[in-house]
Amino acid sequence: MAEITCIEDLRVLAKKRVPRMFYDYVDGGSWTESTYRANETDFQHIRFRQRVACDITRRTTETTMLGQPVSMPVAIAPTGLTGMQHADGEILAARAAKSFGIPFTLSTMSICSIEAVAAATGQHPFWFQVYVTRDRSFTADLIERARRAKCSALVITMDLQVFGQRHKDTKNGLSIPPKPTLSNILNIASKPSWCMGMLTTKNRQFGNIVGHAKGVDNIASLVEWTEEQFDPTLSWKDVEWIKKRWGGKLIVKGILDPEDARRAVEAGADAIVVSNHGGRQLDGAPSSISALPAIVDAVGQQVEIHLDGGIRSGQDILKATALGAKGTYIGRAMLYGLGALGEKGVTTALQIIRNELDLSMAFCGKTDIQNVDQTILFKDNRISNC
Ligand code: GLV
Repeated sequence: MAEITCIEDLRVLAKKRVPRMFYDYVDGGSWTESTYRANETDFQHIRFRQRVACDITRRTTETTMLGQPVSMPVAIAPTGLTGMQHADGEILAARAAKSFGIPFTLSTMSICSIEAVAAATGQHPFWFQVYVTRDRSFTADLIERARRAKCSALVITMDLQVFGQRHKDTKNGLSIPPKPTLSNILNIASKPSWCMGMLTTKNRQFGNIVGHAKGVDNIASLVEWTEEQFDPTLSWKDVEWIKKRWGGKLIVKGILDPEDARRAVEAGADAIVVSNHGGRQLDGAPSSISALPAIVDAVGQQVEIHLDGGIRSGQDILKATALGAKGTYIGRAMLYGLGALGEKGVTTALQIIRNELDLSMAFCGKTDIQNVDQTILFKDNRISNC
C-alpha cells in the first residue's frame, strides 16, 4: 500500500474498501452538489500571508472548545451511519478522538448506541447530537440517555427537519441492511475486510433508535424514518426546552444566517456551528467558510463560533480559526480514515491534519493557535465576503 500522506489518500482507499452505497452516502451532497463543492473550493480561495524570520521554535495547537482542553481546535462531527463505513465505526472513532485529546460527537443516527460508545470509551465524556422528533418523549429520552452516559455537551441539529434530495442515495437504494439485490451482493462481496468486520459485530442497526423509539424495531430507510418522525414545527422554543431539560452545555448546529445566530443565542446556545450540513441539505446555500465572518460579527462576542463543512486539511482549520472560529468539526475527513483503515485510519487523519495545521501556522509566523487572527490572511485575495 502506498504511503498515506493526505486526507485524499484516505478517501481513495475508503472508496475501495467500503460498499458503494455507504461510500456514496458520505462522498456526496444534495441536488447539483454545488454547496458541497463550494465548502472545499472556497477554502482554497483564501490565501495565507507568509512571514519569515519569526522565532517559531515552540509551537502549540492546544486550545479549548466549550471550556474543554483540546489538542487542536477540532472535534469529530456527528455523522449518520458511521458504523456502516467500518464495523463499530462510532466506537473506533470515539477511541481515536479520546487518545488524540479532541471531542467526539455521536449522532442520533449512529449505528453504535450511546450506551455502547460510553462503555467502550471508559466513561470518557463525548458529545451527543440530538434531533427533535414529533414524539418529544423520544427526544427527552435521548437527552436522559446522554446524561446517564455522562456526555459533556449536547448538540442540536437545526437543518434536518426535511431531507435534501441526494441523487446517489436514491439511485443506490440506500438502506440498512442493504437490500439483497444482485448488484449489492456483487459489490459487497468485493469488500472482504468490511464484510468480516460486519459479521463479527452486533452493531448493525440504528442503535439509538431501534428498540428505543416507540414501536420501532427496524428502520430500513433513514429518509423515510426522518420524514415520518422529525418535527417540521421545530422552533426556538424547542431549543429553549432542550436547554432547560439538559441543563448543560448546548451547541446549536446548522446556522448560516446572522439573524438565526442571534435567535440561537437568545434560546440559550453556548456555541453555534456555522454549517450547511456538509452541502447535504440546501444546495445553493453559501459555503460554511463564506458564511462565517457575518456570524462572528453578529454573535462572536457572546458565544463560541464553530464551523463544519469542507475541512480536508489543517490549512482549512487555520483559515477558519483566522476568520474567528474557536473550533471546527471534521466529518468526511474522519469517515475516509475510518473506511480506509478503521481506528488507525482515524488517528492517521488526525495526525495529518494536526501536522498541516502546525506547519502552516509556523509559515505564517505564529507559534500559538490561540494567537491566530485575520492578520495571517492575505487581504486582497480573500473570498468576496470575508
Ligand atoms: C444525516 O445527518 C445526513 O446528513 O444524512
